Amino acid sequence: VVVGAGGFGREVYRYVLDCLAVGSLRAHTVGFADDRPEALDGFGVGPLLGSPREVAWEDYDAVIAVGDPHTREELASLISDEGGRLVTLVHPTAYVAPGSVLGDGVIVGPFAFVSTDVTLGEGTVLNTYASVGHDCRVGDHVVLSPYAVLNGNCQVGARTFLGTHATVTPGRNVGQDVKIAAGSVVMRDVPDGSLAIGNPAKSRVMYPR
Ligand SMILES: CC(C)(COP(=O)(O)OP(=O)(O)OC[C@H]1O[C@@H](n2cnc3c(N)ncnc32)[C@H](O)[C@@H]1OP(=O)(O)O)[C@@H](O)C(=O)NCCC(=O)NCCS
Repeated sequence: VVVGAGGFGREVYRYVLDCLAVGSLRAHTVGFADDRPEALDGFGVGPLLGSPREVAWEDYDAVIAVGDPHTREELASLISDEGGRLVTLVHPTAYVAPGSVLGDGVIVGPFAFVSTDVTLGEGTVLNTYASVGHDCRVGDHVVLSPYAVLNGNCQVGARTFLGTHATVTPGRNVGQDVKIAAGSVVMRDVPDGSLAIGNPAKSRVMYPR
């Protein structure tokens, strides 16, 4: 079940079909869960099983296709508590180095790159062309938007969001609950709960949790 039937959900649905086609994933049927009954109207994909709160998760595996880290975390808890399993999805065009460790519910999208000796926490997403360099330690429910880059030896805390084309230079520590604005270049460590914007990125605490 693809959880989230918005644009990202319909993308992830295609990734699931791509994985089924090459045999890296097995499933009998693929459907969606979303609070909005009309979310898939006019798109020619489905079925929509209902709200994530209504699905009998003990019978299903889930891929969470929502881009907000906090919502990803809440949905992961809901699904795990109800006995569902979070599928780790690696698109056939992605590169994942042997020896890297991917948590449950990780999505590695088309043309994304995971280098050697990387750890990605539960529910973390690498959108298209995102890249994680060697020895990075990435926490749970982190979201790398398309073309976001973590260079080698970075650490990233839970629920941090990197906008599209954000770059973190080697060895930086980025805290938890951080937002890095699209196109920003992080040259210094970023404290928990900060918004980092610009090149070089300036950080200010915005999202204490
Ligand atoms: C950082 C971000 C979250 C801020 O969003 P927001 O809270 O709605 O803030 P606003 O758009 O009102 O912008 C606030 C200020 O920051 C500036 N700013 C916002 N994003 C910026 C960016 N990427 N680079 C430089 N400056 C930026 C704005 O110009 C504005 O400046 P001003 O106050 O002088 O006018 C958002 O701009 C962003 O980068 N989101 C990432 C989007 C993305 O990559 N999505 C991926 C989808 S797959």
